[in-house]
Amino acid sequence: MSGPAVRLVVRDRGHDLLGAVHEGESWAAAARRTVASRPAEPVPVDLSGEVKQFLVDHDNRVAVRPMTPGDLPDMARWLVADHVRRWWPTDGDTTLEGVTARYGPSIDGMTPTRMHVAEVNGRSVGFLQDYRVRDHPDFAMLTPDPDAIGVDYAIGEPSWLGRGFGARLLWAWMPRALRRFPDARSLFAAPDHRNAASLRVLDKVGFSRGVWFDEPQSDGGVATVVGCTLDVATVLG
Ligand SMILES: CC(C)(COP(=O)(O)OP(=O)(O)OC[C@H]1O[C@@H](n2cnc3c(N)ncnc32)[C@H](O)[C@@H]1OP(=O)(O)O)[C@@H](O)C(=O)NCCC(=O)NCCS
Repeated sequence: MSGPAVRLVVRDRGHDLLGAVHEGESWAAAARRTVASRPAEPVPVDLSGEVKQFLVDHDNRVAVRPMTPGDLPDMARWLVADHVRRWWPTDGDTTLEGVTARYGPSIDGMTPTRMHVAEVNGRSVGFLQDYRVRDHPDFAMLTPDPDAIGVDYAIGEPSWLGRGFGARLLWAWMPRALRRFPDARSLFAAPDHRNAASLRVLDKVGFSRGVWFDEPQSDGGVATVVGCTLDVATVLG
């Protein structure tokens, strides 16, 4: 027996368009159907509540593209920004050479991890990395679905923090990740349990918080992280 229909609202130029998710339809598809006659794509504002909130943003275009070697100076700068350094392990060497040694092989496609740059209106503001969870055996043992696509992300430019772009960069990344792994049924991220902004951003794009577990870190320590999963069929279709 199916429950009551999930409701949604899409805000467009100050007007709220109300809609509902049909049986078997994803939230993203229902939002697109709700704005069918309008050219722009709805993006999530907050999908964690009973009413799923989307927005049509006519001012800011958020895109995700593959990282190239030319992005490494930005990357080196972002990794030492206080708000990133707190949550993103660096192995200590944050020189351009160190960052190139660490991320260059993934940029060149030599590891299971792919690196991406997030742009707002053509300007690079942050990065994401993704991988099939099962390609990292230590991590895969701790997660509910080893076939999930794992993701880590950061907004590197401090001036772009706290304005809803964390949610937007994840949303822009999702179709790209699913083109690489079309059979994946879930997306997975595991922020530190103290990283409230990251946990909240995952809530806002449709992830659900799951079990807490201790994840070994590259520096030999252990972080207690919260496994968060997004069900592709429900949210994206
Ligand atoms: C995580 C990150 C990408 C979020 O990006 P962002 O653009 O600032 O996020 P948003 O503006 O979309 O949303 C942040 C949400 O967290 C909330 N938040 C921020 N700091 C918070 C805190 N200390 N306690 C509780 N909530 C907090 C904000 O209020 C906002 O929620 P709201 O929209 O309901 O008000 C960004 O903070 C970042 O790059 N952090 C450093 C790297 C990092 O932590 N990466 C994740 C590794 S798993």
